Amino acid sequence: MDDFILGLPKCELHVHLEGTLEPAMARAFAARHGIAGGADLGERPATFSGLSGFLTGYYAAMQGLQTEENFYELARAYLETARRQGVVYAEMFFDPQAHTARGVPFDTVVSGIHRAQEDVREDGGPDTALVMCFLRDESAESAAETLVASLPYRARGWILGVGLDSDERGHPPAKFAAVFADARAAGYRLTMHCDVRQEDSVAHIWQCLDLIGVERIDHGLECLADTALVEELARRRIGLTACPLSNLRLYGTLMADAVTELAARGVLVTLNSDDPAYFGGYVADNFEAVRDEAGLSRGDVARLAKHAFEASWLTGERTRAYLSAVDDYVAAAAPSGPG
Ligand code: HPA
Ligand code: ZN
Repeated sequence: MDDFILGLPKCELHVHLEGTLEPAMARAFAARHGIAGGADLGERPATFSGLSGFLTGYYAAMQGLQTEENFYELARAYLETARRQGVVYAEMFFDPQAHTARGVPFDTVVSGIHRAQEDVREDGGPDTALVMCFLRDESAESAAETLVASLPYRARGWILGVGLDSDERGHPPAKFAAVFADARAAGYRLTMHCDVRQEDSVAHIWQCLDLIGVERIDHGLECLADTALVEELARRRIGLTACPLSNLRLYGTLMADAVTELAARGVLVTLNSDDPAYFGGYVADNFEAVRDEAGLSRGDVARLAKHAFEASWLTGERTRAYLSAVDDYVAAAAPSGPG
């Protein structure tokens, strides 16, 4: 791993905690809870047949996540890996409906994750916030019920924002317009997935902007098909959370060119790991893959890292402090050798 990338202060905005469930942990939890066929839960193919192919295994592996302690261990393991990868701040997704549908209480999920966040914050970081995703292939009513269940945790400051994930086909942002309006009224920050290689992707991204009023879009790289859309994303300073190794394992390409093109056109594009236990790398690995493929300079790499702090939901003051930390790091870094 490149020392410059590893040491660079990084912010991760697109990581699903359930997607950090490494095979050994999935097998251990399944064994602990006596789940039949649990050994299979650890199996991870090298490539997936698109988003829906990935999601089947992703939901199956979660069966072992049952107790508060399981969620604690999951989040703690991710955060320790993220720390080793130079992450100083992360806004992390979780999928409550994938657990409540199996009879795991909402409180079990959130309490376990929250305790890990607190312990790791005291233990040297990273600092983190939590973003609750609704499953878009479930009904809008189910999302609305989940929103209500979350409100006590919103009130305590445990959940910062809401997002939308799972299978996009046939489930446009518009389906959730009312739920997201209610979430905004409850004080939540808003983001939504617009995955790559999906039907009607450009229309979905426009809906995110004009109908939902999101502040970020997860993935979103298909905006390049529409010049006016790219200009609008740049004008509104909407963050796009690209996930290169996810793109590679699902669709055979990092889409590194799309990342560099969007950055050149003034879009706040960022690099993230998505589901690192499935896609073969955490956030620094994603930086390294794009750096190698696109031949990025240290300046280019640092600029992408700064985009994430700018697209984060930190206060202006904390954002500025992290941006200065990146500048200081670059200024102090040893000069890179030839090649
Ligand atoms: N897209 C949609 N659903 C998901 C993803 C993703 O990137 N990761 C986990 N669930
Ligand atoms: Zn995702």
